[in-house]
Amino acid sequence: MNIREATIDDLLGMQNCNLHNLPENYTLRYYLYHALTWPQLSYVAEDEKGRVVGYILGKMEEEPADGIPHGHVTSISVLRSYRRLGLANKLMKQSQEAMRDVFGAKFVSLHVRQTNRAAIGLYRDTLGFEVHGVEKGYYADGEDALHMRLNF
Ligand code: ACO
Repeated sequence: MNIREATIDDLLGMQNCNLHNLPENYTLRYYLYHALTWPQLSYVAEDEKGRVVGYILGKMEEEPADGIPHGHVTSISVLRSYRRLGLANKLMKQSQEAMRDVFGAKFVSLHVRQTNRAAIGLYRDTLGFEVHGVEKGYYADGEDALHMRLNF
């Protein structure tokens, strides 16, 4: 399994992975916007045939309310048969490192469904994120989001 920076050629593979894994989906234009604006912040995991089996779509917050530069994880997922191999952990760390080193981010934030045990385990237990707040009805189906943060 190989992890590398995502390129424009990966966008369909990333979108495909996202469609399989999450109800939160995005237009191809939004993927392209990430790739063109912050090419250092999105990564893919590929199998031996070069197929995308996981991705992280990362960005810098464009107008941070508190004026502090910080990164944001728009989306991360790994195809079911490739889970628990440490791929998401590696994808997160690569993106976080670039947020800090390339863009001077002071912290990274994200939203996650409060019932998403696997992702919360990854963020809180493995990576050290903390809950910064709860956003009521954040998701289209009305579920609340945990707003999580990790200071660099
Ligand atoms: N239950 C509990 N803890 C888990 C689970 C799980 N099912 N999966 C991962 N973890 C935690 C564990 O602490 C794990 O460490 P360990 O294996 O040593 O115990 C740690 O996370 C690292 O696991 P990875 O192997 O790196 O995670 P993986 O590659 O399996 O991907 C992910 C985790 C991305 C959450 C995956 O389950 C997935 O794609 N889920 C569906 C999509 C999703 O929910 N994405 C996140 C939405 S929020 C957002 O995008 C900002």
